[in-house]
Amino acid sequence: MVKDDGLAAGKGVVVTRNRDEALAHAQSCFDAGGSVVIEEFLDGPEVSLFVLCDGHNTVALSPAQDFKRIFDNDEGPNTGGMGAYTPLEWAPEGLVEEVLERVAQPTVNEMARRGTPFVGVLFVGLALTSRGTRVIEFNVRFGDPETQAVLARLKTPLGSLLLAAAKGELDKAEELRWAKETAVAVVVASENYPDTPRTGDRIRGLKKAEELEGVHVIHAGTALDDQGKVISAGGRVLAVVALGSDLVEARERAYDGVELVQLEGSQYRTDIAGKAARGDITVPYGATGSLPVTKAKA
Ligand code: GLY
Repeated sequence: MVKDDGLAAGKGVVVTRNRDEALAHAQSCFDAGGSVVIEEFLDGPEVSLFVLCDGHNTVALSPAQDFKRIFDNDEGPNTGGMGAYTPLEWAPEGLVEEVLERVAQPTVNEMARRGTPFVGVLFVGLALTSRGTRVIEFNVRFGDPETQAVLARLKTPLGSLLLAAAKGELDKAEELRWAKETAVAVVVASENYPDTPRTGDRIRGLKKAEELEGVHVIHAGTALDDQGKVISAGGRVLAVVALGSDLVEARERAYDGVELVQLEGSQYRTDIAGKAARGDITVPYGATGSLPVTKAKA
């Protein structure tokens, strides 16, 4: 991956297996007086893992996957996230333990050693590549919309966990309890999002959506107008979250809910969790049993 080391309106990066193409992009950046950042190409599926930290101890929530592009098939510009699901049936066994042991716990240990213990949510963005698990990014917050799906399954009261984290007592917290069901969250976004979104439109059908079995709606970019009616007030307006006995049922329920939400000009992706529901996600190592691909020549 060759990136223009500067603001480039999303056009500064070239992801390629072709050395000449990579060199040509770098040269065009140099010709424009800039510099480049070269990063390892990460070839596997992405995973979001939220790890509660109390300064010393770490407790992982259930891994989730989100969908960052605005259009189906991961096309179009990046967004804050258009949907998510959890758990990840296709994830290699031991993934969470590996990330705790190799990533989260060493990070928390080092922060404590430096005298700046970290208390909060460490959001570890991962790629499961042919060369093993890689960290893409850290955030120090919950992720959106993964959290809507993850918390839908969490039976342990979240407040008790956050209190334990704040008090440095996560090691004493009860083992997390999870609903057996699968959760899918589908985001309904305003017209024109992720550019300047259209706002101020009435949203109808929320009550009907909430009446569906296993379905609830989480508001984000909404507000009440003068008459107390719900209107859109942001780009990502709300998420319809559904629990189901498996991904197929959870998706069906979430999309039934989305169909009931009426907001003029609104948009949503139709393929949230679709690949996973069809069993089409492969991890280049681990549970799938597939062998690591030959390392490309440097
Ligand atoms: N869903 C990605 C994020 O919250 O940053």
